[in-house]
Amino acid sequence: MSPVIRPRRLRTTPAMRRLVAETTLAPRQLVLPMFVADGIDAPRPISSMPGVVQHTMDSLRAAAAQAVAAGVGGLMLFGVPRAEDKDATGSGADADDGVLNRALRILSDDLGDATVLMADTCLDEFTDHGHCGVVDGRGRVDNDVTLERYISMSLAQARAGAHLLGPSGMMDGQVAAIRAALDAEGFADTGILAYAAKYASAFYGPFREAVGSSLEGDRRTYQQDAANRIEALREVRLDLEEGADMVMVKPAMSYLDIVRDVAEMSDVPVAAYQISGEYSMITAAAERGWIDRDAAILESLTSIRRAGASIILTYWAAEVAERLS
Ligand code: PBG
Repeated sequence: MSPVIRPRRLRTTPAMRRLVAETTLAPRQLVLPMFVADGIDAPRPISSMPGVVQHTMDSLRAAAAQAVAAGVGGLMLFGVPRAEDKDATGSGADADDGVLNRALRILSDDLGDATVLMADTCLDEFTDHGHCGVVDGRGRVDNDVTLERYISMSLAQARAGAHLLGPSGMMDGQVAAIRAALDAEGFADTGILAYAAKYASAFYGPFREAVGSSLEGDRRTYQQDAANRIEALREVRLDLEEGADMVMVKPAMSYLDIVRDVAEMSDVPVAAYQISGEYSMITAAAERGWIDRDAAILESLTSIRRAGASIILTYWAAEVAERLS
């Protein structure tokens, strides 16, 4: 037995493998999600996400500057209000002095256009019931009432200096509503990174702790069913028609087929969000010595890129950016 054709030839040395690598991973493609909490005077560890913290304003500024110096492509901010500041409609979300809007203003002052500053445009961090929208008398999330709240929240974030808004609540018509409001108020240059295909996922578990969410029940009346693929394409098509500047698939690793499908149909950049549970799984297995942490991180990010995402939101963005450069 002596094969003539030997694919292994292209794997013989590290230099050869580097030469023929089809997929690249660069710091600029990585976006760091960050949590900033109100009413704390030291960064607070998130126990289910070892290595990730809820920041104070000061620690946020330092970590953001460090991530930008490492070359990340952008920062995605989440606000964590004090429990007593949460209410049924998420008033803290559009208050100019709400924790997220204050943080955006500070980072915008610090960093200017040196990075792309993004904000989570969703109510769940700010509502006392933990849903992404306003709940009606029958306990259902009211789509159109929620859109009014998203509009107000978007304008507050645009005023605070966000370059890109990330509507993540999966309400129908959210991109069109936000786009129209931004344009009417003079924010034509503020972009929308649409969470276009966002699935109801068990892997969001650690995020609920990260933002102190009080959600009981689930988000299955607005987030997508893991069983569905065609539905994701429809959601993406609608968001593109409504004016999304980028579209996102979330979570990433269990939905690489969707990332691939979306990359093939989208004519705007495609992002994928490697979410909290994905971070925690790799971290936990590595802590037990069951997998090689650094290799697993790089492999997971390379796979998401290979599936077709040009932008990846990952809690390892700063660390990996440093390692790559
Ligand atoms: C909603 C939002 C969530 C995440 C990002 N934006 C939570 C959810 O939809 O349940 C999850 C991110 C992660 O798990 O890392 N504001």
